[in-house]
Amino acid sequence: MRFSRLFGKSEEPQPPDEPEQPDAEAVADDGAGDGYEGIPEGDADENLDQQWRGRAADVIPGGASTGSKRPAALYGEGTAFGPTHYTRASGCHITTAGGVTLIDCTMALGSVAIGYGDETVTRAVLNAAALGNVAGLSHTSEVDIADRLCDIIPCAEQVRFLKSGAEAVSAAVRIARAYTGKSKIVGSGYFGWHDWANDSPGIPAGARADVLRVPFDDVAALERACQQAGSDLAAILLEPVVEKLPSAEWLAAARRLCDAQGAVLVFDEMKTGFRLRPGGYQEYGSFEPDLAAFGKAMANGFPIAAVVGRAAVMEAAAKTWISSTLASEAAALAAIAGVLEWHDKTEVCDTLWKTGEEMMGAVNRAIAASGAEGVSVDGIAPMWFIRFDTPERESRFLELALEQDVLFKRGAYNYPAIAHDEQTLIDIEHAASSAFVQLVEETQD
Ligand SMILES: Cc1ncc(COP(=O)(O)O)c(C=O)c1O
Repeated sequence: MRFSRLFGKSEEPQPPDEPEQPDAEAVADDGAGDGYEGIPEGDADENLDQQWRGRAADVIPGGASTGSKRPAALYGEGTAFGPTHYTRASGCHITTAGGVTLIDCTMALGSVAIGYGDETVTRAVLNAAALGNVAGLSHTSEVDIADRLCDIIPCAEQVRFLKSGAEAVSAAVRIARAYTGKSKIVGSGYFGWHDWANDSPGIPAGARADVLRVPFDDVAALERACQQAGSDLAAILLEPVVEKLPSAEWLAAARRLCDAQGAVLVFDEMKTGFRLRPGGYQEYGSFEPDLAAFGKAMANGFPIAAVVGRAAVMEAAAKTWISSTLASEAAALAAIAGVLEWHDKTEVCDTLWKTGEEMMGAVNRAIAASGAEGVSVDGIAPMWFIRFDTPERESRFLELALEQDVLFKRGAYNYPAIAHDEQTLIDIEHAASSAFVQLVEETQD
């Protein structure tokens, strides 16, 4: 869809159109998603990319408000290459500030599983915004979407919306503590930037004093931490997939340890929701927690998250204080409706698994063909990553891949999207091959 078509509408705001039939193949066949051809190569100016990096560094501490989009996070500490800002994103392509068009394998940290600027989602959002994004009452879509999530997510009987993933997980922790009247949290994973979940300058030690951290999939460590928490255990909070799927033993231990203390089992499904399956890992692995937090792909890049769970536990949300002025703004709820349209009409998650396998295969073939050593492809297909033996080689690979117009994620997951079509996969393999061949040559020099 061309944006001029959307913004060209001059009539009075209308109720949302009947969404066009989402068609995964049609979107993917477009290659660049929507007739997107980018800016002609000759007109690109990489100096402009550097200028934007400089401007950002002057006015935004660290150069970006999202930690993983800081230059140091994108390309490595001390590196000076690579674009940091974009002016347009469409399908799986981004146009940098300097006018270079890249294939994006990072998909905005997994928050986009359909594609950038998707027509179904964008139209739903624009229509909702045009009809009044917020008001003195709650929008009906808050109830509609809550109902839909209860149909889709196995553990969901009630829902509260928030704006960010960190907020949703913090809300889950607050609800678990309010429900149990206890304090201690045993957690495994990344839960966002809030005080209780981090150990960095500016956080008083007391904020995390009741949080015990355990490694992923380690039954003995989980048991030890729960023993330490004793009868004050409020919740076990798990990111259910970290690089690999969890063992049945780990999950069973978490359930048993929660039940023994009357504690709440919480899954953080920020990355896994609407990606492994619409209902997240709990649907994929047929294992229900009591509460769960969703965000990211649920709204294809629009700012909304949710804490969901069993009604008996969720009711505690009304006894404590969890509230945000714009939590239920209609545009982001409409983005969820657009994503649900996709999931209703086509098996989005099956495509993500298949496309992720093809991406992993493409990079594996590139590694094998080049003879590169000290590098491997890991993770699961919907969230995979390239592991390097040294940060220097990783940075150099990213730089070489960028020269072939492909952006891979440094130190974290690459994410497939519906918009990564066959030609894109060929281009990814070509870029990875070229980068690995060059890397091997440089290593031998
Ligand atoms: C598992 C998990 N939980 C929570 C968060 C925090 O989400 P947000 O950055 O939207 O606050 C993230 C973000 O990457 C995440 O991956």
